[in-house]
Amino acid sequence: MSHFLDIHKTDPGDLRAMIDQARVMKDARAGLPKGTPDADRPLENHMVALIFEKPSTRTRVSFDVGVRQLGGQSMVLSGSDMQLGHGETIADTARVLSRYVDLIMIRTFEESTLLEMAEYASVPVINGLTDRTHPCQIMADVLTFEEHNGPIKGKKVVWTGDGNNVCASFLHAAGQFGFDLTFAGPETLDPEAEFVDLARAQGSKIEIERDISKAVIGADLIVADTWMSMHDAQSAREGRHNQLAPYQVSEQVMDQANDDALFMHCLPAHRDEEATTAVMDGPKSVIFDEAENRLHAQKAVMRWCLGV
Ligand code: CP
Repeated sequence: MSHFLDIHKTDPGDLRAMIDQARVMKDARAGLPKGTPDADRPLENHMVALIFEKPSTRTRVSFDVGVRQLGGQSMVLSGSDMQLGHGETIADTARVLSRYVDLIMIRTFEESTLLEMAEYASVPVINGLTDRTHPCQIMADVLTFEEHNGPIKGKKVVWTGDGNNVCASFLHAAGQFGFDLTFAGPETLDPEAEFVDLARAQGSKIEIERDISKAVIGADLIVADTWMSMHDAQSAREGRHNQLAPYQVSEQVMDQANDDALFMHCLPAHRDEEATTAVMDGPKSVIFDEAENRLHAQKAVMRWCLGV
């Protein structure tokens, strides 16, 4: 059974095939009203459960629309409204849901919840974000980079700010898709060493740089993310802001990168904190293509999980 739990746990050839298929599916829909089903509807007669234990706009809507475009049906479930949020075990929830639905997507807190869901489900499980990783986002980001600037293999990505769960999946993608990544942020917010080591072992050049001006030299892509993740305590806010202010992506920062460098942010953003509004709305920004591509990339992920 093909769970999509993380990029580093998925075969690189399969990842490449998903990106390519996503692009073909996106091109085939050009100009169609959003609610038009795809010509090919491989999820017909399939039911998909979308479980959210954390807030979401993009993940929720893009999965829901994606299932419908593929001809399937979906149900969006709030973790707090389910018995899962009132003491029922993850294992029992997984076994019960598997009797009703063909595919489960879950956004949760602890990675262990995702892994337990996958262990006990008899249908595929997709990681819609945990505190540790966000693989669907980075599949969309690879698709976005490649549709603008060609193959990502051999390119230099600069991650700015907090070495968080989205950064972790970017590191996984570096190893699997063959690009380099420089982390520009404070030492206290470095990405997990395990993920840095894994990408390096796969041949990617992974650098840790405290000076953002040095980090972005030669960059093909600069990525920013919120300074506070959903699981961070609000009491950390002031300290985070003081630490991360030097890593704001401004037009001056973008100008130090390659001429055709792109800017990405997975959204939601705090404008004029991690990146200026001028950058977010500027000519190098592809943030809304990135958001759209969640839809196309995840459709390919769902097809891969179900083998359809
Ligand atoms: N980028 C992302 O996952 O957005 P949501 O939190 O809105 O789903």
